[in-house]
Amino acid sequence: MSDAALPAPASPEADILSALGTRSIVLVGMMGVGKSTIGRRMAARLKLPFIDADTEIEAAAGMTIPEIFERHGERHFRDGEARVIARLLDGEPVVLATGGGAFMREETRVRIAAKAISIWLKADHDVIMRRVRRRADRPLLQTADPEGTVTRLLTEREPVYSNADLTIASRDVPHDKIVEETIETLHAHLCGQAAASEPPADVASALR
Ligand code: S3P
Repeated sequence: MSDAALPAPASPEADILSALGTRSIVLVGMMGVGKSTIGRRMAARLKLPFIDADTEIEAAAGMTIPEIFERHGERHFRDGEARVIARLLDGEPVVLATGGGAFMREETRVRIAAKAISIWLKADHDVIMRRVRRRADRPLLQTADPEGTVTRLLTEREPVYSNADLTIASRDVPHDKIVEETIETLHAHLCGQAAASEPPADVASALR
């Protein structure tokens, strides 16, 4: 048999791509959990385009997210966000990082469930606070008590984020470790393989 007749060696990435079919991968979760960073690296691994929904919203509106909130209010931002995500999910498969509030809209959750596999990047309050302090461009955190705001948002949102297909613990380890875990978890979910072993203690506690 010539080499040309041999099947290409399988890789988890190739298995995932073929099991995804026409579906996308959508990352959901709070501000600061690393949706864009992890999403970009996953897309590179899977050879899929990466799209950041917030960047698309800014391009569609011709202004930044703080400007949209200031000039038109949160409701207007949310309507635009739902439209942009619906449009993106109608296209070719991508890895899509959504803004922290996007999954709170039922219509968006229904679309994501129909057209994608959703992954909740879950981080605890302290990890989120450390990360969001580095950027001042999140309108919802421009409050007198950002810590209290994050606590309130986590209480409201975590029960909803938990409806995602998969949950990955985002914590202070190298990004590539989270990417690797996400690829393994996706592979197990899509390709029907049982997880290789019990999660390490730091993952188990982050997921509790
Ligand atoms: C928001 C999160 C932001 C952005 C907007 C609102 C939220 O995106 O969409 O400021 O409601 O949590 P990131 O989660 O990418 O920071």
